[in-house]
Amino acid sequence: MKNILVFGGSSKLAEETIKNVKGPNTKVMLAGSNLQKLNTVMNDLKTWNSDVEFFVYQINALEYDRHQQLFDETIKILGDLDTVLIAHGTLPDNEVVRKSQELTIKEFNINCLSVISLCTIAANYFESKKNGTIAVISSVAGERGRQSNYIYGSAKAGVSAYLQGLRNRMNEFGVNVITIKPGIVKTPMTTGMPDSPLFAKPEKVGKDIYNALVSKKDVLYTPTYWKLIMAIIKSIPEGIFKKLKL
Ligand SMILES: NC(=O)c1ccc[n+]([C@@H]2O[C@H](COP(=O)([O-])OP(=O)(O)OC[C@H]3O[C@@H](n4cnc5c(N)ncnc54)[C@H](OP(=O)(O)O)[C@@H]3O)[C@@H](O)[C@H]2O)c1
Repeated sequence: MKNILVFGGSSKLAEETIKNVKGPNTKVMLAGSNLQKLNTVMNDLKTWNSDVEFFVYQINALEYDRHQQLFDETIKILGDLDTVLIAHGTLPDNEVVRKSQELTIKEFNINCLSVISLCTIAANYFESKKNGTIAVISSVAGERGRQSNYIYGSAKAGVSAYLQGLRNRMNEFGVNVITIKPGIVKTPMTTGMPDSPLFAKPEKVGKDIYNALVSKKDVLYTPTYWKLIMAIIKSIPEGIFKKLKL
């Protein structure tokens, strides 16, 4: 991992992941919609990794017509690209969004379609190079639709299924595709959610994501107990599950 593009570069989980990256000769492009936030994160990261070079790039995930340009300019600035981490997302108020066609489509655009657009470009580039890593933060929420968050959850399910297929396609080219499935983590995204012992610290999840990048893991549940929790949740028969208030 020497030349890394992070989309959603100002996200807490991306920041905690990149804190573990070491130099020298390592370059990281932080891309995202809010330049001020990107600069703040970059300055923080520089104090952790003084021998890593950082750059920022302002782009909204919904600017599809600029996705290719982002890759082209990142490759020009970094000199090469070997790792792409996609970490942007929004967790909407499901009760509000589920009643609105417009908001539902918007959430799918941010949490699913923009991710797939970026992965398509990354995959074509890495396929031609015959190496590289594409890592995407999906969610355990994509494992089973629940009334309380099925807009976000189904968008993440789309991402996870897409990555499964992409991993299968990319295997023969030596390209790693990593699906990251965190449970609930204390980040700005979950501010205001009721406290729960299941909340993980972002530092721990960031470290797990970094280790998954280094070890080229296929699918990461973080913290690992979510693998068991989701196995139980998925095993509940649909006839019972549909009656639960989840
Ligand atoms: N925290 C959790 O419990 C949890 C659990 C499972 C999965 N995840 C996933 O982990 C990833 C990181 O989230 P986080 O927890 O670190 O929350 P976060 O700190 O709030 O990060 C969310 C990021 O998404 C970016 N973003 C949102 N809309 C965007 C857009 N239209 N264009 C570009 N960037 C956009 C935000 O940047 P701007 O503010 O600049 O727009 C921000 O950097 C997300 O994919 C999230 O779905 C989080």
